Amino acid sequence: MNKITIAVLYGGISPEHEVSVHSAEDVCKVLTKKHRILPIYISKEGDFFLQQTCGFKKPTDIKVNLKNHSKIISEDGKVEEKIALFFPVLHGPYGEDGKIQGILESYGCKYIGCGVKSSFMSMDKAISKEIAQGLQILTLEHIEISNNYDLKDIKQKVERLGYPIFVKPVNLGSSIGISKVKTEKDLESATKKALKYESRVILEKGIDNPREIFCALLEKDNGEVVASKCGELLPSKHEFFDYEAKYQDPRGCIAKTPADIDYELAEKMQKFSTKIFASLKCQGFSRVDFLVTDKNEIYFSEINSIPGMSEKSLFPQLFSASKISYEDLLNTMVSTALATKK
Ligand SMILES: Nc1ncnc2c1ncn2[C@@H]1O[C@H](COP(=O)(O)OP(=O)(O)O)[C@@H](O)[C@H]1O
Ligand SMILES: [Mg+2]
Repeated sequence: MNKITIAVLYGGISPEHEVSVHSAEDVCKVLTKKHRILPIYISKEGDFFLQQTCGFKKPTDIKVNLKNHSKIISEDGKVEEKIALFFPVLHGPYGEDGKIQGILESYGCKYIGCGVKSSFMSMDKAISKEIAQGLQILTLEHIEISNNYDLKDIKQKVERLGYPIFVKPVNLGSSIGISKVKTEKDLESATKKALKYESRVILEKGIDNPREIFCALLEKDNGEVVASKCGELLPSKHEFFDYEAKYQDPRGCIAKTPADIDYELAEKMQKFSTKIFASLKCQGFSRVDFLVTDKNEIYFSEINSIPGMSEKSLFPQLFSASKISYEDLLNTMVSTALATKK
């Protein structure tokens, strides 16, 4: 492949800012081997800064803006670059939910990964579950609430679902704002916590100690979608895989790839993942997450259109178990975006 200029967008205004910076550091390191990489740090205020290197650096003075025909330009006009491809290595709202993708499209920029609509639908935990239900894939029942909720009413509805209940913002990731509620007395504080992040929240029927199994998808430049082997998170001392387990406890979130499961079960989840990816009109890549009960019932949990992407993240590990290296994975994402994005 010819050397091209790729702008890696990272950081961003979402609560998953830090996770994105870690993902982007490794992405930049590897893509630099073949391409000219321009790291663009998006501050928590939403300003774009052209960086020398990718990472947790103080923003440089080169504040840039997008310009028509896939260009970036500094505010003083001294730096102007034509970008062949943008890579949003962003997680959560404004990065993974179609908003940045819409902005890029309106400036005529090509970019890696899912488009506007598929990003929006994948990010929304309630909508993506409806898509899965339409494919006859099991999902856990939930009720959706907003800021003007009636506590008495939701307590009654939750009683019908049964405890434990997982309370979650609809459009967030990294377990931010999520609580496991075991009794009615903790329902209100959990609801308030989730509503701090977003005005839409789901209260979902919980499974105690489910197996958490994942399958990743990669679209090749000929349009073929490859499903990775399934991987599994090993049980930890944490009640569930909360933010602390995922990012603060080095032993909190250990994956086993491939997962230790029957061939038929793995094959089922690979098929489900491919179907969900196709129904949501996803592009490029994604990771689909399942919760599996002790009776081997498979529930679709969520799809991540920009999953954690540092070299040690689950997503590259799933492909490494399928003999696709981190470098090959990233190079495929580049060639697929060049071949398929309008
Ligand atoms: N219904 C549920 N039953 C059991 N555990 C759950 C349920 N929903 C979420 N969890 C736990 O919470 C974690 C984060 O939830 P998830 O829906 O994947 O949100 P995020 O997008 O933040 O990763 C899961 O990995 C799992 O450990
Ligand atoms: Mg998750």
